[in-house]
Amino acid sequence: MSRQNFIIAIDGFSSCGKSTVAKSLAKKLHFVFIDSGAMYRAVTLYFLRNDIDLKDVEAVNRALDEIHIDFVPNTDKTQVFLNDEDVSDEIRTMYVSDMVSEVSAIKEVRRAMVAQQQRLGKRRNIVMDGRDIGTTVFPDADLKIFMTASPSVRAERRYAELMAKGETITMEEVVENLAHRDHIDSTREESPLRQAADAFVLDNSDLTQEEQLQIVLEEYKKRKDEQ
Ligand code: DC
Repeated sequence: MSRQNFIIAIDGFSSCGKSTVAKSLAKKLHFVFIDSGAMYRAVTLYFLRNDIDLKDVEAVNRALDEIHIDFVPNTDKTQVFLNDEDVSDEIRTMYVSDMVSEVSAIKEVRRAMVAQQQRLGKRRNIVMDGRDIGTTVFPDADLKIFMTASPSVRAERRYAELMAKGETITMEEVVENLAHRDHIDSTREESPLRQAADAFVLDNSDLTQEEQLQIVLEEYKKRKDEQ
């Protein structure tokens, strides 16, 4: 029997505005928004706090068994809970960002997260953003969007975001972190970041948030009409 729910997968490099589009789209359509990157970030935070050796498969598996991640949607943002603790802000710090690509390249971590993401997408309409949503998590998604933006636009956005949060960081460090994550995310063995063949490509370097929303809503309507 075919699926009744509608799944929108949004993939792309770090800091190209995926979650902004995903959130506004979910709000507009009354879909559930799921930030899959937040899950990898929460796992990374747990690994850092508990000093997990990333090369020790048994320790990684034991840690994964201990980790429980919850999303609580609020009016303005989705809160992320790691074993009942609100870690929404901590998972966005550079401390976590510097390590998250290494953690998310681990096969066992990916398998556990993909299984949880697939469960979250059962029987409800969702917008999920990440790196492998349209290729691995939901290869049969109803609408796949691949987002890109020029490296300088991405770095500026990320820098402004971190500054607003009061982090002490230089533009150089931001550029380095983005390049480092892009490299690991797209060259790892297990479900690397790549554009799904049937994805709609959205380059938002010169688009406002409203323009991006209108473009993806158009795509959504087209797919919906085809069903
Ligand atoms: O979207 P983000 O920057 O918060 O994601 C953090 C990291 O998690 C990113 O560097 C790569 C990883 N990630 C992933 O490997 N697969 C996903 N579906 C989402 C994120």
